[in-house]
Amino acid sequence: MMAPETNETTEQATIILAGATGDLGGRIARSLLKRGVNVRAIVRPGSAGDNVNTLQAQGASIVEADFKSVYELSKACAGGTCVVSALSGLQDVIVEAQRVLLNAAIEAGVPRFIPSDYAIDFTKLPYGTNRNLDLRQDFHKRLDKAPIQATSVFNGMFTDLLTGQAPVILFPLKRVVYWGDADQPLDFTTISDTAAFTAAAAMDSSTPRYLRVAGDVLSARGLQEAASEATGEDFRLSRAGSLGMLDTMINVTRAVMPNSNDVFPPWQGMQYLRNMFSGLPKLYPLDNDRYPDLKWTRVREVLTAR
Ligand SMILES: NC(=O)c1ccc[n+]([C@@H]2O[C@H](COP(=O)([O-])OP(=O)(O)OC[C@H]3O[C@@H](n4cnc5c(N)ncnc54)[C@H](OP(=O)(O)O)[C@@H]3O)[C@@H](O)[C@H]2O)c1
Repeated sequence: MMAPETNETTEQATIILAGATGDLGGRIARSLLKRGVNVRAIVRPGSAGDNVNTLQAQGASIVEADFKSVYELSKACAGGTCVVSALSGLQDVIVEAQRVLLNAAIEAGVPRFIPSDYAIDFTKLPYGTNRNLDLRQDFHKRLDKAPIQATSVFNGMFTDLLTGQAPVILFPLKRVVYWGDADQPLDFTTISDTAAFTAAAAMDSSTPRYLRVAGDVLSARGLQEAASEATGEDFRLSRAGSLGMLDTMINVTRAVMPNSNDVFPPWQGMQYLRNMFSGLPKLYPLDNDRYPDLKWTRVREVLTAR
């Protein structure tokens, strides 16, 4: 199949970016600017000055707006070709602030909207199995009725987490921990590759409702091999238990910290792994070849560079 052309000209395109002061959003901004696109970052009043100054120095224009005000946000969206959200948060952000941003985009006549999804394919998950992804499902109920062309980017787990927060590759113990099946394929994409793909999608007026990418697809056994090759050490597989046991651990952990306002408390990370090891949100088919100029970073490269 021929890859679609990115059919906005760079002079025409103005991408409105919410969340540009964050990690993923900052990288989306840089990917867009590299492509010569106008980037207008909407930041909330009082957002960290350093991040705003950096964005400005890189060539983005900055508009301060209250994310509770459709009026202010629609002024900020005026003339935009696509609104891209890279906001992060809970109900007040993913459902409420994004709802106001969506209404503003519609009011301003922006034709396209990319919500802050960037996850496993939660449309295939039962509601109630992942607190953060439920919020995105809630937002989709509104988004899917809205008179705007919406596109979600699904990228699996950020590969970068394998050398950080995700308790899967235990480097000091030389173990790869898994639940359920060691051969269940899992999707991984780096934060930078997700940003580059999102930037290309933001400039592409013919995107479908969902785009799915994975820089690498590896099972726990594949992670064991990648870790062994990357480090030159002999990593072992370690089965922590069944998926049912992981459910129990999630419930117990959640019970002792029930009202966490953290966006990523430990039990939510466990929910994410539980979802991935179930195989349900596996990304298929992959759109990795949609923009032929993009290159994908393999898990092994990330582990080698750690
Ligand atoms: N697939 C994965 O493994 C994975 C992992 C991590 C994250 N993600 C997803 O990637 C996306 C971006 O995450 P990130 O890590 O880049 O987030 P981040 O670094 O925490 O940045 C969050 C951004 O949202 C803005 N924001 C937060 N609350 C806001 C509010 N009430 N009003 C207006 N702006 C607000 C922040 O603005 P300020 O600078 O003003 O605070 C910042 O620009 C999220 O959808 C997240 O769930 C996916």
